[in-house]
Amino acid sequence: MAKLTADALRDMYLKFFESKGHTIISGASVIPENDPTVLFTTAGMHPLVPYLLGEKHPAGTRLTDVQKCVRTGDIEAVGDSAHLTFFEMLGNWSLGDYFKKEAIAWSYEFLTKHLGFNPEQLSVTVFRGEGDIPRDDEAIACWKALGIPEERIYAKGREDNWWGPAGTTGPCGPDTEMFIDTGKKPCGSECGPGCGCGKYIEIWNDVFMQYNKSAQGTYEPLKQHNVDTGMGVERTICMINGYKTVYESELFLPLLEKIRELTTHALPEADRVRAERIIADHMRTATIILGDPKGGVKPGNVGANYVLRRLIRRAVRYAMDLGLPTGFTATMADIVIGTYVNFYPELQEKRELIVSELTAEESRFAKTLTQGRHEFEKVAIVMAEHGQTQISGKTAFKLYDTYGFPLELTEELAAERGMTVDKDGFLKAEEKHKEASKQGEGVFKGGLADHSEQTTRLHTATHLLHRALKNVLGEHVNQKGSNITVERLRFDFSHPEKMTKEQLEQVEDIVNEQITRALPVTCETMPIEEAKASGATALFTAKYGEQVKVYTIGDFSKEVCGGPHANNTSELVAFKILKEESSSAGVRRIKAIIGEPALAKRKAAGK
Ligand code: ALA
Repeated sequence: MAKLTADALRDMYLKFFESKGHTIISGASVIPENDPTVLFTTAGMHPLVPYLLGEKHPAGTRLTDVQKCVRTGDIEAVGDSAHLTFFEMLGNWSLGDYFKKEAIAWSYEFLTKHLGFNPEQLSVTVFRGEGDIPRDDEAIACWKALGIPEERIYAKGREDNWWGPAGTTGPCGPDTEMFIDTGKKPCGSECGPGCGCGKYIEIWNDVFMQYNKSAQGTYEPLKQHNVDTGMGVERTICMINGYKTVYESELFLPLLEKIRELTTHALPEADRVRAERIIADHMRTATIILGDPKGGVKPGNVGANYVLRRLIRRAVRYAMDLGLPTGFTATMADIVIGTYVNFYPELQEKRELIVSELTAEESRFAKTLTQGRHEFEKVAIVMAEHGQTQISGKTAFKLYDTYGFPLELTEELAAERGMTVDKDGFLKAEEKHKEASKQGEGVFKGGLADHSEQTTRLHTATHLLHRALKNVLGEHVNQKGSNITVERLRFDFSHPEKMTKEQLEQVEDIVNEQITRALPVTCETMPIEEAKASGATALFTAKYGEQVKVYTIGDFSKEVCGGPHANNTSELVAFKILKEESSSAGVRRIKAIIGEPALAKRKAAGK
């Protein structure tokens, strides 16, 4: 029998629901619009939240689409037969239109008549009821009416049969999940849908969104009764075609074949398979993120940028284990683009950007890893000289935090030399680091009026100003205080005399030059000693824990600081000093502004 491809499945699904009165809409960007609380779109309902809450959707009350989703919560599990960081979700929605009867009947029809599953293979779960919310007898009756016998209808609690909200508040409700019995032997008397043994595979979820979870944690009935469903493309084609893992489909095979062709290091079977899968999964997700029409996510150190960086770097690390050649990320991206271009033509349009971002990050990381290996060698030599055989948790954490060495890599390198790693010590160091970062953020909160973008940019401006003052007046200049409001920054620094007009102009020009250069602002965490050794300016030392964040602005400035900062100096637009005056003996004070007002003032001054 011909294999069912992802292209064919999407088409079948959308057409089926179109035939049931649904409008086919485009899936949204994988980078959420107008939702700062999540990094990526994680479900088909996500972009539809306002409509589930009652707003009118321009395409009507019955919608269907394919949504690109990224979920990285289980990134460490990728490499097994089923976990993926990117997947496509097929969905159909009723916005206050049809409800349980139709949703369940259509799911059943599509599964049995169109996808060809035997009704005997189907088991379902429904909400058992909890607290004020009763058992979902309506869903049970719907399934029975379709001929599913009672023994294949399982009533379960909130853990299993309640979905949403996607964030902390929003639409949610009981669901009914459909499972395909793979025919395997039950693992025990308790084995049933939801059991992890692999006998039952979930294929579809129909959520009956009739509640809104409030900020207080209460469930308020929604005015309209909605249906939200989700079926994973990768998993569905895997089951229909009888594949053992999602990696056997046409979405992954070309990637895996290429990886095998490029492999030069033999690894034990299980390690090889895991490495191949991780590379294929992560490169697919990274390509989709970089090729997203909304754009704007690039490898970096915070939020979605960091997730992207992590995906690429994990792929590179496993590629090194397999001995893939430099530049493999571009090869992988081209394969992903080829696989998806029919449905997502924007990937081809963005090919150049995708490839250049991937290769740049690949080489940045390769450099860091090489440095890390040198660092490891140094540690190993000193230890050998002292007859020590256990690498301290602190050292292992430094390798992790500064050079991106996962603990397992340090353990492997250690084992090669007959050494071990203090794992508990590593975990303790990690914990300490988390606390230090929290402290750092506390410092930021204390020094600033709020967390708006404007104050964040002003904060970055103080770093530029600090460095520019040192350049013009000398290294004796040190920050003595900082106060930021949404309007302006105020910066106090040590200097014995009033600055001349020329000096002020020079400082202002230097800062503006860095803004024009559009320098990236990056952040790294490291022990304070190392931060100082790296030449970073360190302030308020006493307030920091051992691990500190170092913010680097291009090649211009490096400071120990809790952040946050602008991502790029270009966001500051322009910088204008308003005033220089005495603050106290030996301490001067500058007030300055940024943005359009600064630009206007500089223009007026003939700059
Ligand atoms: N929103 C539901 C899910 O993600 C359909 O499973």
